[in-house]
Amino acid sequence: MAGFFVVFEGGDGVGKTTQIDRLAGLLRAPAGGGFEVLTTREPGGTQLGQELRQAIMHGGHVAPRAEALLYAADRAHHVHTKVRPALERGAVVIQDRYVDSSIVYQGGARGLGEEVERISRWATEDLVPDLTIVLDMEPSQGRLDRELDRVERETAEFAALIRQAFLDLAARDPDRYAVVDAARSIEDVEVDVTAVVRAAMAGAGLGSADAPVGPAADPGLEPWGTP
Ligand code: TYD
Repeated sequence: MAGFFVVFEGGDGVGKTTQIDRLAGLLRAPAGGGFEVLTTREPGGTQLGQELRQAIMHGGHVAPRAEALLYAADRAHHVHTKVRPALERGAVVIQDRYVDSSIVYQGGARGLGEEVERISRWATEDLVPDLTIVLDMEPSQGRLDRELDRVERETAEFAALIRQAFLDLAARDPDRYAVVDAARSIEDVEVDVTAVVRAAMAGAGLGSADAPVGPAADPGLEPWGTP
């Protein structure tokens, strides 16, 4: 396919949205290559997806298999109507969460196992990201440093499990994954994110690996790499 598909994964609150916005800004800017960039998310990247997202997060209990199928339905529609068409036009698609989130949350944390991956692959007709960036951060150190009550302990254990599961997926396929230490300043994370995206895009014949790498969001700053 002509475009480039990059996905951000990681636990809750690792800063995916901020990094996606910055990367999109950089790649759209003339100095950054002037690419057509689509930023999108799962669940909820389409109108139907918004409704599915509401169904998933409606507050009451959702049976784990129903939840897994709702995520897969959202994904199937999203890929078919939005992501593939954009890639076929040659756009860069930057997405917040994808199949790996289902593998980690539904397959791992909710205990549904490997079938979740197969369902997602079927739903997406095997559309695999060119690059997945795992934003990696230790679950809130502040919380772990003091005595935790039961709910807090469960939350911390869950976060640690999620973190490890994303790291395991990244280790399985190092060519298609980059793990970026997200426990640093937004600007430092952005520099690393941009560098790995540039390199991967250059490998796919899009742009140059020497093109500017962040910080992009502050229009007062010259993009790096410009003389
Ligand atoms: P999201 O709204 O993207 O929140 P965040 O800002 O934390 O990324 O995702 C909401 C939750 O949905 C998040 O806790 C992870 C979960 N999720 C799954 O469990 N399975 C999936 O397939 C996806 C895409 C998300």
